[in-house]
Amino acid sequence: MSYVAAEDRYTKMQYRRSGKSGLLLPSISLGLWQNFGQPDDMNVYRQTLRTAFDNGITHFDLANNYGPPVGEAEINFGKIYKEDFIAYRDEIIIATKAGYYMWPGPYGEWGSKKYLTSSLDQSLKRMGLDYVDVFYHHRPDPNTPLEESMAALDLIVRQGKALYAGISNYPADTAAEAFKILKQLGTPCLIHQPKYSMLDRWVEKKNDAVNKNLLEVVDENGVGCIVFSPLAQGLLTDKYLKGIPADSRVGRKLPNGALTENGLDENVLHKVAALNIIAQQRNQTMAQMAIAWLLKDKRITSVLVGASSSQQLLNSIAAANNIEFSNEELAAIEEILK
Ligand SMILES: NC(=O)c1ccc[n+]([C@@H]2O[C@H](COP(=O)([O-])OP(=O)(O)OC[C@H]3O[C@@H](n4cnc5c(N)ncnc54)[C@H](OP(=O)(O)O)[C@@H]3O)[C@@H](O)[C@H]2O)c1
Repeated sequence: MSYVAAEDRYTKMQYRRSGKSGLLLPSISLGLWQNFGQPDDMNVYRQTLRTAFDNGITHFDLANNYGPPVGEAEINFGKIYKEDFIAYRDEIIIATKAGYYMWPGPYGEWGSKKYLTSSLDQSLKRMGLDYVDVFYHHRPDPNTPLEESMAALDLIVRQGKALYAGISNYPADTAAEAFKILKQLGTPCLIHQPKYSMLDRWVEKKNDAVNKNLLEVVDENGVGCIVFSPLAQGLLTDKYLKGIPADSRVGRKLPNGALTENGLDENVLHKVAALNIIAQQRNQTMAQMAIAWLLKDKRITSVLVGASSSQQLLNSIAAANNIEFSNEELAAIEEILK
């Protein structure tokens, strides 16, 4: 049956400005990294995307290599987009990225202008789009001049193939340089996408080269910040506290950087069990508290979650209903995370 979006969708979500740009993003966005490839069910993908949009999630995050296998998430998203969302194109922010390995030879990964421009053309084809809203350089390339990668982003925006430029996984010092170059080129960086969760707090650590941490650098440059793997790929939920569910990311034994059994360290699970008690006292699930803990910082434009079902996504969205933490709660969380 053809899809009609829920009329009240914009009453259910908070929107935050991406840095000093004109663009508002939902405080919770949906990423399509591990849950939209094969061999899972298209109906689940469709239902999850509909649930997202019906609840005010206007932002979908992809990359050339999302699947598995690589490219498949863009293909599946493109099919569902064409059937369900095409009429809503102007209400949706679609992002994609390039940086990781995609095809053999010297032009299939990293940060050359050749790779970035070809990859975006391929992504647009896979998704059946004329343009994406945000195009990211997915990871810094130590062997390509930053000027070249940033010039590629600027070119892509000027060509109208992307509306905004972003960077991902850049440390604070390289990010500061990238922001400067992009500003000089006349295409200010919209957003940075780093990994950030209770279990991975590198964005809070001072980078000696700039004497600041990434959150400070992003903030002082008027750039937004959308954080990925806020649930540490499912570790910051209660799902692994009593073993490994067969349908979980670990249970499904996914390739390409997905959480594996090795990541289920006993010490970490012990911390999650203790955090889960605080979450219960706040009337939140573990996942909700992990998301809320990130949203308490106003420099975070959006928390980019993954979801393997609509139910999970609804649970995550409800995290935004309580993002206040008492000093006692924060201290207790710090004590556990120490
Ligand atoms: N820029 C980058 O380099 C980069 C890298 C990685 C990811 N990302 C982006 O960030 C997005 C999110 O990353 P991620 O998938 O690792 O995020 P995540 O939100 O940390 O983990 C998602 C997983 O957590 C579980 N989950 C989600 N909501 C839950 C809930 N409410 N209750 C219980 N379990 C829940 C599900 O696990 P099960 O599958 O086990 O059910 C789900 O697959 C990606 O899709 C991608 O867009 C970007």
